[in-house]
Amino acid sequence: MKSMKTLAVSGKRVLVRVDFNVPLDDKGNVTDDTRIRFVMPTITWLMENNARVILCSHLGRPKGKPDPAFTLAPAAKRLQELLGKPVIMADDCIGDKVTAMINGMKNGDVIMLENLRFHPGEADNDDGFARTLAALCDIYINDAFAVSHRANASVEAIVKHAPVCAAGLLLEKEITAFRTAMESPKRPLVAIVGGAKVSSKLKALYSILNSVDSMIIGGAMANTFLAAKGGKVGKSKIEPDLIEDARKILAQAVEKKIAIYLPVDAMAADSIDQKTPGQIVPIDSIPDQAMVLDIGPATVSLFAGIIAGAGTVIWNGPMGIFETPVFAAGTNGVAEAVAKTGAYTIAGGGDTVAAVEAAGVTDKLSYISTGGGAFLSLMEGEPLPGVAVLEKQCGA
Ligand code: 3PG
Repeated sequence: MKSMKTLAVSGKRVLVRVDFNVPLDDKGNVTDDTRIRFVMPTITWLMENNARVILCSHLGRPKGKPDPAFTLAPAAKRLQELLGKPVIMADDCIGDKVTAMINGMKNGDVIMLENLRFHPGEADNDDGFARTLAALCDIYINDAFAVSHRANASVEAIVKHAPVCAAGLLLEKEITAFRTAMESPKRPLVAIVGGAKVSSKLKALYSILNSVDSMIIGGAMANTFLAAKGGKVGKSKIEPDLIEDARKILAQAVEKKIAIYLPVDAMAADSIDQKTPGQIVPIDSIPDQAMVLDIGPATVSLFAGIIAGAGTVIWNGPMGIFETPVFAAGTNGVAEAVAKTGAYTIAGGGDTVAAVEAAGVTDKLSYISTGGGAFLSLMEGEPLPGVAVLEKQCGA
């Protein structure tokens, strides 16, 4: 991909696709500004180099028409606070008023366009909508890794119409970090996969069997694997339809000589409401009425040993219900092990990033991805439409 730093941007209208799909509280304040902070190097570089910076993004899923609940104004306000410079909020992303605003910009100015998904053409990857957006700029930059798995107009179709296009600094960093971990890893490469459901990670599980040396499986999804091996998991959630897949994955791992590590003990409780205290039990002694809500300390030690010996670690998905403090020890233990290992470490996926943050080790990892679905798509071995089109239409 062509890097934005190779471009002469002074005086140019530069349209930057960012992903400001950030969580808001009920007063409309941004509760996690990670995605805004991570794109700041791109914005400040453009401002310092006298570009006219036009930011565009989606927020939520507003169904192709304006909906005040999904305005990008709170994100613009947060960006303004972080930049210490004005960010002008537009009330649409296309139209005469927007064009007039852009024509009135001075070098170094920043405008935030309103939610792209207020127009149906965005999600439809509509060529006409993409053309209209492209007409707003001299240069288009994709710095929205987290939405690059979507073939949306501002991500994919626009590249065919923008006069000049390039990858933003965050997009480059994300792709480089993932490729470092998965395509040319320092071995052994250890994947940690957790979270609630096997179904949402199924494709990724099969795909990473082609690259990893060992795999650690935790979280509620481990229950389906334990059940596939004939274990009893009490009242724990399992996905009966996926037991066969779990067996296949275990068998493929044996064939490929990949070690799969499952929990050997668990924090089990009769309910998640914390009224009944949980207990640590060996994995083969989960009481009939109990469910597994976290991995236990023996599992943390087992997993930590594997992580300590890794050359590269890729992590997606927590080990238990880490949002509830009594069920957070397993995820925290794994986070600490990941923070301590000398390996190259990368974590991605909304829950994982929140778990890493809750464990207080964010700055100890080599890279934290801003992507949820996009990160998972990469783990699934799927090309990202937003990246593929940049590579095809505007190579380095
Ligand atoms: C995300 O938060 O994963 C991205 O912003 C994509 O959002 P979407 O799933 O609504 O397309």
